[in-house]
Amino acid sequence: MKEEKFKKQEEFIEKIRTSNFTRHPFYYILTMGCQLNENDSEKLCGMLEQMGYYKTEEMAQADIILFNTCCVRENAEEKLFGKLGEVKKLKEQKGTIVAVGGCMMQEEHIVEKLKKSYPFCDIVFGTHTLYQFPQDLYEVLNKHKTVQDILQIDGEVIEGLPIKRNDPYKASVTIMNGCNNFCTYCIVPYVRGRERSRDPKDILDEIESLAKQGYKEVTLLGQNVNSYVGNGNLGIYRFSDLLRAVNKIEGIEIIRFISPHPKDFKDDVIEAIRDCKKVSRLVHLPLQSGSSKVLKAMNRKYTKEQYLELVEKMKQQIPGVTFSTDIIVGFPGETDEDLEDTLDVVRKVNFEQVFMFIYSRRVGTVADKMENQIPEEIKHKRFDKLKQLVESQIEQNNKKYIGTVQNVLIEGKSKNNPEMLSGRTDTNKVVVLKGTEKDIGTILPVTIVSEHMWYLKGEKHPL
Ligand code: SAH
Ligand code: SF4
Ligand code: F3S
Repeated sequence: MKEEKFKKQEEFIEKIRTSNFTRHPFYYILTMGCQLNENDSEKLCGMLEQMGYYKTEEMAQADIILFNTCCVRENAEEKLFGKLGEVKKLKEQKGTIVAVGGCMMQEEHIVEKLKKSYPFCDIVFGTHTLYQFPQDLYEVLNKHKTVQDILQIDGEVIEGLPIKRNDPYKASVTIMNGCNNFCTYCIVPYVRGRERSRDPKDILDEIESLAKQGYKEVTLLGQNVNSYVGNGNLGIYRFSDLLRAVNKIEGIEIIRFISPHPKDFKDDVIEAIRDCKKVSRLVHLPLQSGSSKVLKAMNRKYTKEQYLELVEKMKQQIPGVTFSTDIIVGFPGETDEDLEDTLDVVRKVNFEQVFMFIYSRRVGTVADKMENQIPEEIKHKRFDKLKQLVESQIEQNNKKYIGTVQNVLIEGKSKNNPEMLSGRTDTNKVVVLKGTEKDIGTILPVTIVSEHMWYLKGEKHPL
């Protein structure tokens, strides 16, 4: 079934490629969401390049403009509508094809708004119809009609599409789609559907092929990776089994995963991290709030105490483990005292990295209907308080690196200073150092000599 669907698309890819044979058409893509969204964009780029399109960073130069959208917070929506405003002129001037896809398109009220206010969009596609993009594009090019291609949220996800990866040494691999958790603030379960785990064999084959191509680091992606249960020719694989199997793949040196849910962090996962030396010692463990009362209202299924116990247990069992997290401030009903609980957890865990968000109301979620919404001004004040604490902790933590030797995957030339190289430690800290082109793509021991807020400076350690 999957193969058939795929074959059909390959025919469309070929047809468009032939028609582009004597041309040099360009595409522009803007990715607005998380790493899953980024991974989908890599697949769209892969298909477009097979169809004979070349990437451009200039919207005005493009023959096709793609927006891969996110709807997790309101500002993502505002950004899309702003961009569509800009595109309208280009469409009028040169007939650029406009395609809008991703999570926002799974929301009915958004698609309605799009049809009404931005009727010039040629292709509107959701999160499950990515693979049909060649066919959609073919219809627009040849039949000059607009295409709306959105499936119900639990539609089959076709994997194994052509892919053009953003990075030559680090790759993301989607291991599962969807989410069953329904945290009350979150729109993701409504736009990505229920959890579906990929066949473990497909995942392992993909990672083996990445290793053969020279990839050193792999990030396993999903909305709730530690509830992964794959079933296929290899039998049943839990997330811990998958980690152990990836750890055996020769050539892969660093394994990361996002995002796990604290409630599913069972002993077998902790033991797998402990035993698998390639698994990063930086674990992302989304906290969301430090107040048990708020956590309950968020439907997170753990308390402040349980979260802290989990952290302690992991610190004991996995030497050198550190944590990063996501925190939301200003959830309905949150008081100053609740915020103090969050700050308390931040102090106790001493996170390596904190992604901080101001609560954003999402249509259709339970929290959006709660009456005790927090005024914007208070949300911002709380956000600033959290930010201050986090920044002071990061500064303190960075100092601890000075004089240590870190294994750094050298990713390329530094963006801010092409004379220097840039890479990342196992704990995902950016390190800037002197080196040669030959060092790119290798993992080197580096002595950290100084710290700055967002990066560390290092020197190659004599081998
Ligand atoms: N499945 C992952 C990531 C979900 S989205 C997880 O559970 O961790 C990434 C982050 O966005 C969430 O962790 C949360 O901190 C934040 N987020 C989600 N919905 C939000 C909302 N309505 N307002 C503000 N932040 C939100
Ligand atoms: Fe959203 Fe919660 Fe699912 Fe994460 S676990 S995607 S925050 S509902
Ligand atoms: Fe990701 Fe945003 Fe969708 S966070 S899953 S792109 S809503």
